[in-house]
Amino acid sequence: MKKRVCVIGAGPSGLAQLRAFQSAAEDGADVPEVVCFEKQEDWGGLWNYTWRTGVDEHGNQCHGSMYRYLWSNGPKEGLEFADYTFEEHFEKPIASYPPRSVLFDYIKGRVEKAGVRAQIRFNTIVRDVRSLDGGGFEVTARDEAADSEAREEFDHVVVASGHFSVPNVPEYPGFDTFNGRILHAHDFRDAREFAGQDVLILGTSYSAEDIGSQCWKYGAKSITSCWRTAPMPYEWPDNWTVVPALERVEGRTAHFKDGTSREVDAIILCTGYLHHFPFLPDDLRLKTPNVLASNDLYKGVVWNRNPDLFYLGMQDQWFTFNMFDAQAWYVRDIIMGRIEVPDLAAREADVKARQEAEAALEDDYACIDYQADYTEELIADTDYPSFDIGAASKAFYEWKKHKKKNIMTFRDHGYSSPMTGTMAPPHHTPWKDALDDSLEDYLKI
Ligand SMILES: Cc1cc2nc3c(=O)[nH]c(=O)nc-3n(C[C@H](O)[C@H](O)[C@H](O)COP(=O)(O)OP(=O)(O)OC[C@H]3O[C@@H](n4cnc5c(N)ncnc54)[C@H](O)[C@@H]3O)c2cc1C
Ligand SMILES: NC(=O)c1ccc[n+]([C@@H]2O[C@H](COP(=O)([O-])OP(=O)(O)OC[C@H]3O[C@@H](n4cnc5c(N)ncnc54)[C@H](OP(=O)(O)O)[C@@H]3O)[C@@H](O)[C@H]2O)c1
Repeated sequence: MKKRVCVIGAGPSGLAQLRAFQSAAEDGADVPEVVCFEKQEDWGGLWNYTWRTGVDEHGNQCHGSMYRYLWSNGPKEGLEFADYTFEEHFEKPIASYPPRSVLFDYIKGRVEKAGVRAQIRFNTIVRDVRSLDGGGFEVTARDEAADSEAREEFDHVVVASGHFSVPNVPEYPGFDTFNGRILHAHDFRDAREFAGQDVLILGTSYSAEDIGSQCWKYGAKSITSCWRTAPMPYEWPDNWTVVPALERVEGRTAHFKDGTSREVDAIILCTGYLHHFPFLPDDLRLKTPNVLASNDLYKGVVWNRNPDLFYLGMQDQWFTFNMFDAQAWYVRDIIMGRIEVPDLAAREADVKARQEAEAALEDDYACIDYQADYTEELIADTDYPSFDIGAASKAFYEWKKHKKKNIMTFRDHGYSSPMTGTMAPPHHTPWKDALDDSLEDYLKI
């Protein structure tokens, strides 16, 4: 009997798992049967844009958190697949900060080439996973198109359902009587909605910086961004004001910790996301903050309390697609018996060591190096093509400096590919003037 592997989610992480097994099969290995459940009707995870908010067409929580006009917030050189380069896909070098549609196309290109789509059951949501007494798991999934539920047994489960989809939504006094619009970043879809408005942004991380910048770019009257721990370290345009934390709201007036106040039309909560796995019981459910060294995961992927269960992509992310690949190849090799998992004590010691190492990191540059080392550590034990990860880190260092220099022009820079060494050409239009985010426009010379 062939082993059976269940992959939950066909975003970049789940697709990396399918590609990992397919590449072993291509090399002649006898691979397990892999079934991937995907609740959306197409693959690509967050990169598969949806206009929907709230619930999807089946009444399930809408997965999408991406919005129109979203461009990569980090250089593409940091996320390039080692087994499928941008140049292979686009047949020419492209600029370093592609919009969502371009990255979606790239993600699809690799798995279309690998021919793994038939392994995915679309419109099928995993509702429950239970570990079985004799080993393995029972997975309950609902095929929403057929409107039917089925239970199946698997030897291994790989959770690749993402963790930037279920919003963390704080409440502040006065929200219930605010005379404007309050939304979380998860429900933000089109910056044009806020043209001519005074917008208040909560949060100081990537969503805050990018959604505020989008609103600015598409004509908001003013942006006010408030910070809880520390302000974002950038110089903002003239109509962008930085104030300390929000205290309360009265009518349309937002009051801040320093005693100042402002009239605002909309409040956008860029307050992060929850690791949320409603389909998993407590003994299998990851509970972790958004950090580099997640709780309870040996090598960042193996669930310590039941090493037949794996998680992909659950860390805070500097590296993304190629780190998910490193994890997926590593998980594949554990499942195929090529890599041994040590006993529980050793697994727990591994997690503790990673968490202590993370606690000692002094700045973002150290965090980048930490995640580069982690990615390289996993790759070293598998046949995933090794690449110049130092070049990817270098692109991230330069990206940080370019952001610091000018937050509205950092996307106009280019970096060299860690896979091919090719220097990215500049984009034809500066980001702040490029209002068309289509694939066709981006690829124009
Ligand atoms: C607004 C935003 C912008 C981002 N921009 C960038 C960027 O510019 N560059 C970058 O590198 N990263 C970016 N990211 C990070 C992003 O997390 C990764 O790029 C990547 O999408 C993570 O892949 P994933 O497969 O782990 O998760 P996801 O992309 O979230 O995919 C998870 C998949 O699992 C499916 N799923 C969930 N639950 C179930 C279930 N119960 N049953 C079946 N299927 C299920 C979902 O439908 C989804 O298809 C961004 C994230 C956000 C929120
Ligand atoms: N491509 C793009 O352009 C783009 C755009 C958006 C997002 N993303 C990606 O999306 C992912 C998630 O980023 P994110 O910014 O949404 O989440 P995040 O990085 O987890 O940041 C969460 C933010 O919310 C703040 N926060 C949490 N609770 C709060 C509260 N009660 N009141 C006020 N502030 C609160 C935190 O502030 P403290 O520091 O005070 O805790 C922090 O600034 C990242 O991987 C990012 O790269 C990419």
